[in-house]
Amino acid sequence: MKLLCCIFISISIVWADDSGLRYEKDKVCEQLHAMGQPKFKELFIAVYSQKFPNSTLEEVMCLAEEMLKLGEKCCAEGAAADCYDKGATEISDKSCQADSPFPKHPGISKCCAKADVHERKVCLASLHYPADELPSLLEPTNEEMCQDFTQDRIGYSSRYVYELARRHRSVPVGLVLNATGIQTQILEKCCTPTASTPCFLSERFQGRQFNILLRFTSNHCNNNVNLKSYKDGLTAYYGSILNISFEKAQPMVQDFQAGLSKCCLQPNPECLMQKFTTFQQVICNDRYPDECCKSSRAPWNTVLCVQGLKRTTRPPPDTPPTTALCQQDNHNATERFLFEIGARAVHSSLPVISTALSKIKEEVKACCSDPDFQACMTKEDGHVAKATAFLTKSEEICSKYKTLDFPSFKAM
Ligand SMILES: *[C@@H]1O[C@H](CO)[C@@H](O)[C@H](O)[C@H]1NC(C)=O
Ligand SMILES: *[C@@H]1O[C@H](CO)[C@@H](O)[C@H](O)[C@H]1NC(C)=O
Ligand SMILES: *[C@@H]1O[C@H](CO)[C@@H](O)[C@H](O)[C@H]1NC(C)=O
Ligand SMILES: *[C@@H]1O[C@H](CO)[C@@H](O)[C@H](O)[C@H]1NC(C)=O
Repeated sequence: MKLLCCIFISISIVWADDSGLRYEKDKVCEQLHAMGQPKFKELFIAVYSQKFPNSTLEEVMCLAEEMLKLGEKCCAEGAAADCYDKGATEISDKSCQADSPFPKHPGISKCCAKADVHERKVCLASLHYPADELPSLLEPTNEEMCQDFTQDRIGYSSRYVYELARRHRSVPVGLVLNATGIQTQILEKCCTPTASTPCFLSERFQGRQFNILLRFTSNHCNNNVNLKSYKDGLTAYYGSILNISFEKAQPMVQDFQAGLSKCCLQPNPECLMQKFTTFQQVICNDRYPDECCKSSRAPWNTVLCVQGLKRTTRPPPDTPPTTALCQQDNHNATERFLFEIGARAVHSSLPVISTALSKIKEEVKACCSDPDFQACMTKEDGHVAKATAFLTKSEEICSKYKTLDFPSFKAM
């Protein structure tokens, strides 16, 4: 039997679990009944735009429409038991054809060629685009937006969902839909009879918090998907923000990061918001009854606030790395070693810290199979030296960026 190609590409990421097809169909039908057709289609435009950010809106729409048709046909009462699976297989066959109207992905043909059903499933579900950023959207004028919107409301919403989703590939799709809902509400209110500037100003101000939330969430989820050693980076980062030890920082961050891995890919944002709430409680209980922990702040906003706090420097570590890092049962020794390095980078960003730490981590592993561990770790042109130099340079530039005024920084 051919497998659910396209459907699986997205839904398996989102909804499928080991219980397989039955579960997927139930979920799809549940969504369709709960949301109604237009919202259901919008949901799938968002899902596929995240999954295929380089596809055109037309390709994405085509697939979303097929999904809607499949749902309408097979979720209806009295539909044949194999209706859904059959239809899904047809879509999959179609998407494996060279001239398919559906989104293309460089890895699709490799997956479609797999004979084993399970392997193909895994292959399709794991397709993803690299982290390339798309160029920012040019903000049209209020008049242009109103014109597009009033001419074709649904078309406007679809395009908005598409553009937003392909630029926020790793967040719960619900957030993209919420942001789109906010945008169309603003237009609804401010475009009649003609674009009203004061209305846009005040409405945008209201919607600002949500935009910050979307960007904030997108950063966390993207980092979690794309950065190696993000957990080590986060641990070091919170170690220096909260001025706490490795022993305290690691379990705290571990929970938070596991939450990101679990919740970022769920369609519903609630899971992620709950993780921010838990993290807020941990941070605020422990030591910050201050500005960032005021009860008026939303949990995610506490996290945002804490990340803006000044980080605390600490004295250099007293011992050089030893082969203790290589012992299998002393697993956290490497993490502690990375923490000691990362927590001293008090000016650099999380992606910079995580990237440097991932290089060092790889090198520790490599050096552990070198007869002379010490020499390997301290090689002058080795990865440890390079990553350390990279961090030092970043610290230097970022601290100047923070202390100098912009013209002086630019001159430098
Ligand atoms: C996707 O588009 C971006 C921006 O246009 C481009 O840089 C990137 O190479 C494309 N990726 C693929 C896999 O086609
Ligand atoms: C998103 O929209 C849904 C439905 O309108 C609403 O229940 C939810 O609270 C919104 N989520 C956020 C984070 O604003
Ligand atoms: C950071 O923690 C250390 C050890 O607990 C303490 O000695 C130091 O004063 C703290 N620094 C700041 C700025 O709170
Ligand atoms: C490493 O730390 C984690 C989190 O604190 C803990 O769950 C795990 O048991 C530790 N591993 C070892 C080998 O000590």
